Amino acid sequence: MQSVAYYREEFENHLLSGMAKREPASLYEPMNYILRLGGKRLRPALVLLSAELFGGTYQDALPAAMAVEYFHNFSLIHDDIMDEAPLRRGKTTVHKKWDINAGILSGDAMLIEAYRFLEPYPSETFKELSTVFSKTAMEVCAGQQYDLDFETRDDVTVKEYLKMIEFKTAVLVGAAVKMGAITAGASMQEQQEIYAFGLNLGIAFQLQDDYLDAFGDPDKFGKQVGGDIIENKKTYLFLKALELGESAMGKELSDLFSIQPKKAEKKIRRVKEIYLQSGATEDTKNAIATYTEKAFSCLEKLNLPQENKEILLRFGKDLMGRKV
Ligand code: IPE
Ligand code: IPE
Ligand code: MG
Ligand code: MG
Ligand code: MG
Repeated sequence: MQSVAYYREEFENHLLSGMAKREPASLYEPMNYILRLGGKRLRPALVLLSAELFGGTYQDALPAAMAVEYFHNFSLIHDDIMDEAPLRRGKTTVHKKWDINAGILSGDAMLIEAYRFLEPYPSETFKELSTVFSKTAMEVCAGQQYDLDFETRDDVTVKEYLKMIEFKTAVLVGAAVKMGAITAGASMQEQQEIYAFGLNLGIAFQLQDDYLDAFGDPDKFGKQVGGDIIENKKTYLFLKALELGESAMGKELSDLFSIQPKKAEKKIRRVKEIYLQSGATEDTKNAIATYTEKAFSCLEKLNLPQENKEILLRFGKDLMGRKV
């Protein structure tokens, strides 16, 4: 088994070598645009890594990795429409560069393409892969809907929030490692255990995304810093600030989250102060570490060579320090 960086590189080469100009350009250009913007390629790298973790080859897992990355990019195009986001991976979002219709249709096309990558697998493997993939895709839709519903609710609980991020984000990370394992012919038990690892890592990943959305460096993050605050997203930071902060602070925060001012700078600045003063920021960092540790404890159950476990541990630790 190699490092995550190695699989990322192999995936990147494979993806770019298969990309071509197609007609109608107004359908395919937005797809190629978002794919070429790069991103971390975490999920496809995990598909490949997981295949080799369980004795398969990364080459056999490449189509599954393509399916996962296409799905992820489809979800980002539609997510940016729903979140009214101007920036993605440091560049203009698809619906701002083209228009909403282009975002809807090129997103739909990417979802369909995602499934088509699974077609070459032998029928048993295909069935197993598409079962995980479809279940995951429906859960992501549910998670995205909860995320939107929560914007206008003022009684969201931490438990509900955790379920929401499990659906919108963590299940796809779990599916990535599980699909890699399936291509390698791993046992049910192994599939379940590596899925649990991915799921917990995915929860930590989304908590960190929420943290970076408020406190990230605008020059590095690649997305609009403060975007979640503008959209009144009920993040872990927000819910913990209500829970931990004094009642006057909580009231102020709730009031700030009931408005959408034209100029958002003041609101963003004040909300971030409240996140820090209330202890919510610190609490979020602790939760990121806790879910990363949970992911690590899932690895203990797997009978794997220690050196391979070390690669996954390093990867999880590096994720906690990410700025992008
Ligand atoms: C963004 O995912 C969406 C979330 C689930 C937070 P990534 O942060 O993996 O996005 P890219 O692919 O690296 O741009
Ligand atoms: C992303 O949640 C979840 C999906 C795209 C399915 P976010 O809305 O937090 O993702 P970013 O921050 O825009 O990447
Ligand atoms: Mg978003
Ligand atoms: Mg969103
Ligand atoms: Mg986000």
